[in-house]
Amino acid sequence: MCGIVAYIGGKAAQSYLLEGLKRLEYRGYDSAGLAVLEGGKLNVVKAVGRVANLEDKIEDMGGFRGTIGIAHTRWATHGGVTEFNAHPHTDDRNGIAIIHNGIIENYAALKTYLEEKGHKFQSQTDTEVLAMLIGELYAPQEGVDLEAAVQAALREVTGAYAIAVICEKEPDVLVVARKGSPLMVGVGAGEYVVASDASAIVSHTTQAFVLDDYNVVKITRTGFRTSTIHNVPVTSKIMQLELELQEIELGGFSHFMQKEIFEQPKALSNCIRGRLNMDEGRIHLGGVGNFSKELSKIKNIVLTAQGTALHAAMIGEYLFEDLAKVSSVAEYASEFRYRNPIVEENTLVIAVSQSGETADTLAALQEAKERGALALGVVNVVGSSIARETDAGVYLRVGPEIGVASTKAFTGQVAVLSMLAMYMGRKRFMSADQCRDLMKDMERVPGLIERICEQDARIKKITEKYTHRENWLFLGRGYNYPTALEGALKLKEISYIHAEGMPAAEMKHGPIALINDGMPAVFIANRGRQYEKVMSNIQEVRSRGGHVIAVATEGDKEITKYAEDVMYIPDIPECLSPMLAVVPLQLMAYHAAVLRGHDVDKPRNLAKSVTVE
Ligand code: F6R
Repeated sequence: MCGIVAYIGGKAAQSYLLEGLKRLEYRGYDSAGLAVLEGGKLNVVKAVGRVANLEDKIEDMGGFRGTIGIAHTRWATHGGVTEFNAHPHTDDRNGIAIIHNGIIENYAALKTYLEEKGHKFQSQTDTEVLAMLIGELYAPQEGVDLEAAVQAALREVTGAYAIAVICEKEPDVLVVARKGSPLMVGVGAGEYVVASDASAIVSHTTQAFVLDDYNVVKITRTGFRTSTIHNVPVTSKIMQLELELQEIELGGFSHFMQKEIFEQPKALSNCIRGRLNMDEGRIHLGGVGNFSKELSKIKNIVLTAQGTALHAAMIGEYLFEDLAKVSSVAEYASEFRYRNPIVEENTLVIAVSQSGETADTLAALQEAKERGALALGVVNVVGSSIARETDAGVYLRVGPEIGVASTKAFTGQVAVLSMLAMYMGRKRFMSADQCRDLMKDMERVPGLIERICEQDARIKKITEKYTHRENWLFLGRGYNYPTALEGALKLKEISYIHAEGMPAAEMKHGPIALINDGMPAVFIANRGRQYEKVMSNIQEVRSRGGHVIAVATEGDKEITKYAEDVMYIPDIPECLSPMLAVVPLQLMAYHAAVLRGHDVDKPRNLAKSVTVE
């Protein structure tokens, strides 16, 4: 969603800010803006659309040389996509500028209060309210400097924020703060780069610290001081960023999504490395080791997530019941958090999230914890809010995912959930030999995905035949019912083709009415317990004129009699097959979007990390 970059140091801030904004483009946004202090004066520039538009505007103005500044990409929540609503926002008295991620929930009450005090608002945003509030409280003559004014303002707000603030009257001070929305400070030589995401920092420094909730950091060119909003000093621990620059660059691929699909063999190798203990026939998961006893007593599992991560969680539901014999349910976090969920004794809640910042998933996790559940995270981004909120967890280790459409995180999530299910299975009914057999298959997965990726040109050709169709169906059963949902989601989010995924058996209960001549119906029809049943469903579609595209097991000749097109995956135990079956669907969605002329990495209206509910 929105992205934050801020700079203070000895060099011109502008290039740091623009480069940072470009690195954050992948998160999704609809407008951008920047403020640089130069000669004691605030220069604010905003543009609707791409960062390139902002860059052009700044160039036309002759550029800025100031060495302190803030910049932002906005994904509209309060107010439409206009320059007025874009950040930075300023107060009307002191030359204070602010950028903000998150939502100020009590902004309406604060706005009324500030209007009564005579402040005039220009935008419809909650952020401008915060700018005015800081301005209202700013009183340097009375000892309330920028840092103190920010602390005081944040004591008045409810909601979520990551902010960066500068002020004409304090040209050597940058104040940043966080609650609920991610923010980190990169510590360079005589300079600091603040960002909502490490990708905007790593090209300058690999030393950084993450703000905790309610932290306020005052940064000057010579140092920084962290405190709480109540001005209690806090020690920020500087860490080494693991992110490599090459991981966030295209490296010869046309799009990040394409790169990440092809990266899956390597990503999954990293994900499983060191976690499969063949000698002992058991799974080693360092992140949950301290909770081994509690995990053996678990009676119910609630997996909670949104979007693609929910599809992985749904596969988890099958895995935990099959391999660990624990009753499991996967739920939309957005629904779970607002129900009145019954969390019985010995319940485990597993929050699945690539970013670790999804607002609904975080809130569902907190709700479950409050009701006594043990909380585990299956998260990619190290140190993210969900990772920090859980009692224990397993990181995906698939590397940064830049493509808005999640691909390698999905296979990573399924891999981790498979290992977790085996880990818990071994504590119950699974023998060392059973576990060993499954681990051997698990080890094959990266190489098998590589083999599927070799079919890329064929998959593109198949896709070409159907890209003009506006309605597609994705159907699967058992473990590959969630895979069908994921195939449909991938297609719709980047190609804007309407696609529905469902259990193949459900089709007869209504959706079959949609099938008309030539309608593409993608079936996940690999060999498994329900193969024959899927074949019957295929016949039902064919006899109504639908065109069947099947994902089938290598060597299956029978399927060619019923499907117009077949994409093959290698044979593997059914419980691991979603990690293979999803790959042709990812490639199909990718090609469909490119063939239809869409910007795959910047799909309309989408944000990479959804930090508002
Ligand atoms: C789809 C996609 C989204 C995310 C969802 C949850 O390709 O990426 O559906 O899966 O927004 O995000 P995380 O996993 O970051 O919690």
